[in-house]
Amino acid sequence: MLKGKKIILGITGSIAAYKSVFLLRLLLQEGAEVKVIMTPAAKDFITPLTLSTLSKNPVLTELFDEQSWSNHVMLGRWADLFVIAPLSCNTLAKMAQGICDNLLLAVYLSATCPVAVAPAMDEDMWKHSSTKENLQRLKSFGNSIIPVGNGALASGLHGEGRMAEPEQILEFIKEHFSVANELQGKKVLVTAGPTYEPIDPVRFIGNHSSGKMGIAIANELCNRGAEVTLILGPTKETVNNSRISIIKVTTALEMYEAVENRFDITDLTIMAAAVADYTPVKQATQKIKKHEAGLSLDLIKTRDILKAIGERKKSGQILVGFALETNNETEYAKEKLVKKNADLIVLNSMQDKGAGFNHDTNKVTIFSKDQVFEFETKTKQEVAKDIVDTIIRLYYA
Ligand code: PMT
Repeated sequence: MLKGKKIILGITGSIAAYKSVFLLRLLLQEGAEVKVIMTPAAKDFITPLTLSTLSKNPVLTELFDEQSWSNHVMLGRWADLFVIAPLSCNTLAKMAQGICDNLLLAVYLSATCPVAVAPAMDEDMWKHSSTKENLQRLKSFGNSIIPVGNGALASGLHGEGRMAEPEQILEFIKEHFSVANELQGKKVLVTAGPTYEPIDPVRFIGNHSSGKMGIAIANELCNRGAEVTLILGPTKETVNNSRISIIKVTTALEMYEAVENRFDITDLTIMAAAVADYTPVKQATQKIKKHEAGLSLDLIKTRDILKAIGERKKSGQILVGFALETNNETEYAKEKLVKKNADLIVLNSMQDKGAGFNHDTNKVTIFSKDQVFEFETKTKQEVAKDIVDTIIRLYYA
C-alpha cells in the first residue's frame, strides 16, 4: 500500500517516542522509504542507532555539525509526507509560531509536502487553551492532526492526550495516500475573503469576511493533490501552505480580473469570497472632509464574477458558488444555481448559530441541480472537507 512512498518520520521529546520505533517498522513493512529526523530532546527517550538500523538511513538530528550542513529544503521536497509522531507540546508551540531552532523545525518550515502530526502530552497540557490555539493554527496551515487517544498517561493519570497507537497512525497515513491524489493534475481556482471598494484614500466599503472558509477549502484541495490558485481579498489570515499559489487582490474589479485571467485553464472553480456588490462611482483623491451634515455616495454595481464565468463555462469545467443568506435561504440558493450557471451552490445562512462570517465554524447545505446535501455545524476545515468530498463524489469519482 505504501510501496514507493517517501515519508519523513519526525520524532520529538516525549515518552511516547518509544512507539515511533513500532510505527517505523510498520511503515517499512508496508514498503515505504523512511527518513527519520529527531529533535535533540527526542534522543533522551530513544537512540538514533535503533532508528537508523531499522530505517537503513542515517537519522538526522542537527542542522549542521563541523563537517556538514543538512539540506532541510531538499528533505522537505524529497518527502511525499512528513509525519511528526509524537508531537510534543513544545514543538507544537514552535511550529505554530514559526520558530526554527532545530533541524525538524527547519524541515517543517520548508516542507512542500503534506504534514501530519500525532500529538502526545498530559491531559492538562492537552486541554490548555494555548495548545488548542496552536493546533488550530497548524490546521489553518493545512496540517492534519491525528486524534489523540484516551487512557493511561505518563504522569500516572488517566485521560486524553495519549499519542495515537502506531497502528492507528499507519491507518491514517494509508487513508491519506488513498485520498491524497484524487485531484492530482486538476487545476483549481478558489476565491476567499472580502473585497474593499475605496471611497477615498482612507475609507472603503467592505464586509466581515475573514477569508477562513476559502482558505480552508484551498488547503483541503491542496491535500487532495490539486494545483491550487487562491485569489485572496484583504484579510488578516495567513496562508502558510507553500503549495498554494496566492494572488492578493483588494477590489471586486481586481478579483474579477484575476479570476477571468485564469478561468479558461481551470478544471474547478470555487467562489467563497464575499465580493462587494456595489462600488463608489468615483473614488475621491483626497480624504472627504466632514463639512456637511450628511454625505451621499453614488454607487454602481460591481461585475458579478460568478455569473460572468458561469456564462463562459465549457463542458468539463466545474463551477461552485456560495450563497450567504439571511432569509428565504433555499429559494435564493436554488435561484443562484440557475442564474449563475453553477454546478453547485454552497448555502450558509446568517440565521444559523456559528455559521457565516468570521467564525471558526460553519453550517452548510450544498445544492446541485437535482440533489441537496445537508451538514451539521463543524469547523471550517471539516466543512471544507465535506465540500471537497461532495465535489469528488459527484464529478471526479
Ligand atoms: O470568510 P469567512 O469569514 O470564513 O466567511 C465565509 C463566507 C461567509 C464569506 C463564505 O462562506 C460565503 O458565504 N461566501 C460568499 C458570500 C457572498 O458574497 O454571498 P452572495 O450570496 O452575496 O454571493 C453569491 C456568490 O456570488 C458567491 O459565490 C460570491 O463569491 C459570488 N459573487 C458575488 C458578488 C459579485 N459581485 N461577484 C461574485 O462572484
